[in-house]
Amino acid sequence: MKKLERFKENETFSCLYQPNISYNDKSDFFLKCKWSSDCFQNSNPIFLEIGCGRGDYTVKLAKTFPNVNFIGIDVKGSRLWFGAKQTETEKISNVRYLRTRVEFLDRFFAKNEVNGIWVTFPDPHVRISDRHRRLISPAFLSLYSKVLSNEGTITLKTDSSILFDYALKVIKRNELPIVFESFDVHSDPLLIDTELNNLTTNYESRFISEGKKIMAVRFSLKGKSDFVE
Ligand SMILES: C[S@@+](CC[C@H](N)C(=O)[O-])C[C@H]1O[C@@H](n2cnc3c(N)ncnc32)[C@H](O)[C@@H]1O
Repeated sequence: MKKLERFKENETFSCLYQPNISYNDKSDFFLKCKWSSDCFQNSNPIFLEIGCGRGDYTVKLAKTFPNVNFIGIDVKGSRLWFGAKQTETEKISNVRYLRTRVEFLDRFFAKNEVNGIWVTFPDPHVRISDRHRRLISPAFLSLYSKVLSNEGTITLKTDSSILFDYALKVIKRNELPIVFESFDVHSDPLLIDTELNNLTTNYESRFISEGKKIMAVRFSLKGKSDFVE
């Protein structure tokens, strides 16, 4: 299906929200603070997948954890179409998608409304001068702290050792508690039979077929809201 056709079909999907939120318009999204009551209509935890691309990992997580609600976020509607189409076709009730920039996250969710965040294969922005654009930089951690519950965790998965080293540096510099870290997720005996090992994203499958190692770290923000590099 061509991109334009996907954009058109996206408008018909009830699991996909495509709000008109911009830097100028400071309004909050109508479901902020109401995702449990008005959207999912249950009190299950809410997990986000940031930069979910085609949203296939969002669906896989949702099927693995039916008592958790998952919201995949990406700025590209043509990619979100894939996950949204599957969600509509299979009537998966614990998945939603948001087409927006992550930078607007606190307009969509209230403090404590989110119980976990996945950051899956974000663009590594390898140039040191671009490091503030990495979705795991101190500014993004501050943003995540505005929505994440105190017990909530952030899980990063990447094939980029530059990004992974940077993430570990930021985590350790800010003394954030690490739940686990792995330099080779798919050969790590501690991660066998976990969603980390059993489920792969679209990019991850490609990286694995190229022989690349996949790294992951899960950590919490310990109630902090300011972070340094
Ligand atoms: C390398 S792809 C990974 C996609 C998917 N997570 C996977 O592993 O297959 C990175 C994704 O992040 C999205 N992205 C990058 N920066 C973003 C931002 N600021 N807000 C929302 N999405 C963003 C891109 O559109 C792209 O789909």
